Amino acid sequence: MNMTPDLHSLDTLFAARRSCRAFRLDPVPRAVIEDILRCAQKVPSWCNAQPWKVTLCSGAETERLRAALMQAAQGGGHSPDLEFPAGYSAEYQQRRRDCGWALYEAVGVEKGDRAGSARQMMENYRLFGAPHCAILSSPAELGPYGAMDCGGFVAAFTLAAQAAGIASIPQAAVASFAPLLHELLDIPEDRVILCAISFGYSDTEHPANSFRTSRADLGEFTIWRG
Ligand SMILES: Cc1cc2nc3c(=O)[nH]c(=O)nc-3n(C[C@H](O)[C@H](O)[C@H](O)COP(=O)(O)O)c2cc1C
Repeated sequence: MNMTPDLHSLDTLFAARRSCRAFRLDPVPRAVIEDILRCAQKVPSWCNAQPWKVTLCSGAETERLRAALMQAAQGGGHSPDLEFPAGYSAEYQQRRRDCGWALYEAVGVEKGDRAGSARQMMENYRLFGAPHCAILSSPAELGPYGAMDCGGFVAAFTLAAQAAGIASIPQAAVASFAPLLHELLDIPEDRVILCAISFGYSDTEHPANSFRTSRADLGEFTIWRG
């Protein structure tokens, strides 16, 4: 490898980031959260529209959100603003399965253990015990490109958090209760709720944080021409 020192540092940071599925309860100082947000907002967006809005829950507001989501999840009734994928096939299905099984294996859920997998799914609505949850939304009128810009923000937020020693996880599962989030957190109806990012300090000893996902080889996703 022939990386510049900057790229090497960035690569080390990217490699260290992972989705955290068990947090400690202690809160992140407000100043640290502000640093992460200021860092993440430097990503590009079409026309520099910066379409992201972040509804950032801490303390009692996180607890109110957690309780409401856990209660809603008992009854099903998922209704995301942004349509969930119609399906995953071929390599996408394989990768989805691989990361799902790696999680189940880490937390001791065996194939066919429906109660165990339901319990682990419920962890999403418990926000994996995180002290903070950011709900990300984009103006409906910007459509998929607004969502695309916000995707860049999600990546930048999680990486900036990593650089600040803060663990995080983007969660589409939380966005599946969009009507509840609009109402509970006063998110206007002309904004599309895209996902949540739960964050805090990692419970590094927890089995849910003991596995790593893999990445495809370059040749699997790059088509070189010329
Ligand atoms: C937009 C988005 C939504 C996600 N939603 C969830 C989710 O609802 N629950 C979950 O456990 N992980 C969720 N993840 C985390 C992915 O499973 C994770 O990023 C992927 O498996 C790669 O693992 P890594 O983040 O540890 O590198 C989401 C990630 C992204 C980018």
